[in-house]
Amino acid sequence: MCGIVAYVGPKDAGPILLEGLQRLEYRGYDSAGVVISNKGLKMRKVKGRVADLAAAVPARFKGTLGIGHTRWATHGAPSDVNAHPHLSADERIAVVHNGIIENADELRAKLEADGVVFLSETDTEVLSHLIARTVEETESLEEAVRLALKRIVGTYGIAVIDAQRPGEVVVARNGSPIVLGIGEKEMFAASDVSALVRYTRQVVHLEDGELAVLKADGFHTFASDARETAKEPLTVDWDAGHYDTGGYEHYLLKEISEQPDTVARTLRGRLDDRFHIAHLGGLNMDARETRSFRRVKIIGCGSAYYSGQIGAQLIEELARIPADAEPASEFRYRSPVVEPDTLYVAISQSGETYDTLAAVQELKRKGGRVLGIVNTVGSAIARECDGGLYLHAGPEVSVASTKAFTSTAVAFALLALHLGRVRDLSPADGRRICEGLRRLPEQIKEILALEPQIKELAHKYADSPSMMFVGRVRGYPVAREGAQKLKEISYVHAEAYPASELKHGPLALIGPEMPTVAIVPDDELLDKNLTTLGEIRARGGRVLMVGHRTADPKLADDCVVVPKNETELDPILLSIPLQLLAYHAAVALERDVDKPRNLAKSVTVE
Ligand code: F6R
Repeated sequence: MCGIVAYVGPKDAGPILLEGLQRLEYRGYDSAGVVISNKGLKMRKVKGRVADLAAAVPARFKGTLGIGHTRWATHGAPSDVNAHPHLSADERIAVVHNGIIENADELRAKLEADGVVFLSETDTEVLSHLIARTVEETESLEEAVRLALKRIVGTYGIAVIDAQRPGEVVVARNGSPIVLGIGEKEMFAASDVSALVRYTRQVVHLEDGELAVLKADGFHTFASDARETAKEPLTVDWDAGHYDTGGYEHYLLKEISEQPDTVARTLRGRLDDRFHIAHLGGLNMDARETRSFRRVKIIGCGSAYYSGQIGAQLIEELARIPADAEPASEFRYRSPVVEPDTLYVAISQSGETYDTLAAVQELKRKGGRVLGIVNTVGSAIARECDGGLYLHAGPEVSVASTKAFTSTAVAFALLALHLGRVRDLSPADGRRICEGLRRLPEQIKEILALEPQIKELAHKYADSPSMMFVGRVRGYPVAREGAQKLKEISYVHAEAYPASELKHGPLALIGPEMPTVAIVPDDELLDKNLTTLGEIRARGGRVLMVGHRTADPKLADDCVVVPKNETELDPILLSIPLQLLAYHAAVALERDVDKPRNLAKSVTVE
């Protein structure tokens, strides 16, 4: 979604802001802009790419303080005028904003009645006028910003500069992330650490309601009641190299290919071969507490939710605790019953998905115990949870989630092992799972070696108007994620169904024009799955089977055979060929693989 960068220090701000905006491109945007302070505010903004903005910024735009933005249109169409920054009428104040101001229409009407002329259709412009109205009377820009924010209903991450205070930037957060970057006699701020890591690894995350004043020599943070807050900087272990394509044609392919390493990182230091348990110190729970839960409820959005379905299955199988997953976006709105003996687990790659964050906050309000399975260290969801596991999968740049999905499923296997071993999972089964987990990285390499075959299959099936994905029990979340990957990056319509449900309705869709991708592991349901394939073939449907053996050509047109692991862990491996299938279908259809239309990397709005 929208991105923010800000700089104050001794260097020329323009190139730093443009580089930062380029790093944020992966989040999805439609226009971009920068403003630099140097004897007045110098602004350029364009509809289009950051490269278009860079071409439009004149060489004479020099200055050591500035803010920049990539916009994802909400109020008003993508256009040069609606792009951020937005200036006050006297061009003294400039604002960039992520989020949505819900009472913007009402505030705009009041300001217009007072004679303010608006240039754009955006909700953000309200803020620049509100700040400009009080800045004359207040002692500081910080106070003017705080007074303006008091009148706002909605979510925001903002950065503000004042032409008459050329040494400071004010940033604030409520529901939309802001991270400060601490440099040597220079300060940065951004909506995402990716824009900062080239310059510094020392960061500070703002909490909701916090505001910060940045000057070249440091920063101060304040709560909404103006009390100064104390913040400990965090060191991020992601570097700029993580944000390069590393010689791959797309980030997506790079991230799929990284999975042997990223899975190894998720596992590192967490498996105990003596007692066949998982070491998960970050859960902050002793064995007695761990045993006290009678249910597990998992929440997340999109692919995170599907990985949660794999997680629920793992927890039920290994720990024998009833577990289920639900979209966080639904959970938060249905006034959930929060029980003291339920363990809640929130999943998020970005750690900033608004629906998931709001669901966690609702759980906390009601006294729920919430663990986070999160990739981004120090992110809002990680901070909000009582404990959890980081994925350590490195930054995921491509909009479609792959390595974070896989690492989340692996993290659930660790959690299920942990919950199981403090209950009834035997040492022998614990050992079996530990050994299975250790085999995953090598087995993922074997699956990646199937890429030429999967590419060919993607070309064969990519021109289908629609595809069905089916799986039973452990295979069903794999099918759902496979359908999600295909539709989001190739725009081919795809539906996922439990294989057992086909005959209760969707079988009517099956015919030569609707191929089926069937997830058929070698488990206790193999025969049932093969019967389903027979039913599909009998209706003239084509079948691409993903499983552990080749099928009779009467049952499947094509087979992708993946290595077998322990039955409970097989869904982790079965998902990987579907990532490659979606990737190569999207490339064959010439889609914008890393930035699919209408999607953003982290959805920080409702
Ligand atoms: C799909 C995808 C999305 C995300 C979802 C949650 O490929 O990336 O469905 O999984 O928006 O995002 P996080 O995990 O950042 O909370």
